Amino acid sequence: MEERLQKVIAQSGYTSRRKAEELIQQGKVTVNGEVVTVLGTKVTKKDTICVNGKIINKEDKVYYVLNKPRGVVSAVSDDKGRKTVVDLIKTTKRIYPVGRLDYDTTGLIILTNDGELTNFLIHPKNNIEKVYIAKIKGLITKEHLKALCGGVIIDGKKTGKAKAKIIRLDKKTNTSVVELIIHEGRNHQVKKMFEAIGYNVLKLKRESVAFLTLDGLKSGDYRELSIKEVKMLYAQKNSQD
Ligand code: URA
Repeated sequence: MEERLQKVIAQSGYTSRRKAEELIQQGKVTVNGEVVTVLGTKVTKKDTICVNGKIINKEDKVYYVLNKPRGVVSAVSDDKGRKTVVDLIKTTKRIYPVGRLDYDTTGLIILTNDGELTNFLIHPKNNIEKVYIAKIKGLITKEHLKALCGGVIIDGKKTGKAKAKIIRLDKKTNTSVVELIIHEGRNHQVKKMFEAIGYNVLKLKRESVAFLTLDGLKSGDYRELSIKEVKMLYAQKNSQD
């Protein structure tokens, strides 16, 4: 498979893609002994790539599942200096989160350096199931639950079919706890879905992604995925209904 030179360099863990582009333009990169300065040059696994005279290898792939605490950013770095999900994992590899959980959302997030798996998991056509538990202000009605399941308009577009069930209604505090199962990953999707039917989300936790759960993981804990689990993730294509 052909890939862009700067992407292969970045995936080796040598540097970021932007830095790799600079190195290519500065004439610091050779492919099979020839200096290459054209960005986007296509290379394959068979090509020998050197940066500053050093051969680079494809980095081994790693996969983690983290129970993200509240107050942590789902990003590789943060310009405000806040703690990120990557800071919580001890690794020398250049990992990043698959999708995002909001700063105040807790729960399951996958981190990896495998771009192919990332694309697979976030592509809407693969319909990967995500289970959320939302604590909302107000006592939710059956009609509103039905509306969530049928799809509501957020950012001008209807959400896909979902499943929703009431876990708890608390008249005293005027709050409800709802389990919501969705297959998309739009920006702030769960909060916006509840907003669309008139409820404010007070607390949000992602309980699972596909078959992965938080079992055995306390807040801030993480574990590596097994090869079997990674293969099972790739096999997770769900039908649209
Ligand atoms: N939906 C949200 O609104 N926030 C999250 O963090 C995840 C899903």
